[in-house]
Amino acid sequence: MQPNQPFLADIQELRRRAREHIERGAVTDSYQSDVENVVKLLNAALATEIVCVLRYKRHQFTARGLSADSVAQEFAEHAAEEQSHADRIAERITQLGGEPDFNPEGLATRSHSEYVAGKNLTDMIKEDLVAERVAIESYSEMIRYFANNDPTSRRLMEDVLAKEKEHAEDMLTLLDKVGKQGL
Ligand SMILES: [Fe+2]
Ligand SMILES: [Fe+2]
Repeated sequence: MQPNQPFLADIQELRRRAREHIERGAVTDSYQSDVENVVKLLNAALATEIVCVLRYKRHQFTARGLSADSVAQEFAEHAAEEQSHADRIAERITQLGGEPDFNPEGLATRSHSEYVAGKNLTDMIKEDLVAERVAIESYSEMIRYFANNDPTSRRLMEDVLAKEKEHAEDMLTLLDKVGKQGL
């Protein structure tokens, strides 16, 4: 591990694992964590959320096929929820005295999840499922890192993680439905 990367996790490896297993301002003296590193991690989560918003939006407007309407609706809901995660994470970064990074330059590299347009409905849903699984792995690692040293960031990411788990379930259900209808 490199000294300035005490956390994670080879992103490539994390992405590979997710693909492979598709089926299934308030810093006080008592603050125990390394603020700089926490801000760095939260910025990675922020980039991940923004990329997820963009991907779900792209899928919302390009969904075609018999169940396109209901699936597009689901994509739209997820996009809105990822946006609210991005907002909450940015707020936490600011609380810690850090700078939330919204720079589009390098966004895809900072993000742990990927932006894939997807060729058809099944493809899109699969890509979303993979992205959710990447987020779940990456946020779980962050939560373990925050542990008791930054309980506020930990609780925030636990909340977000719970939602990502729901999202993954939703995508798995959709994949099954779309698969059965042969769309
Ligand atoms: Fe999210
Ligand atoms: Fe999600």
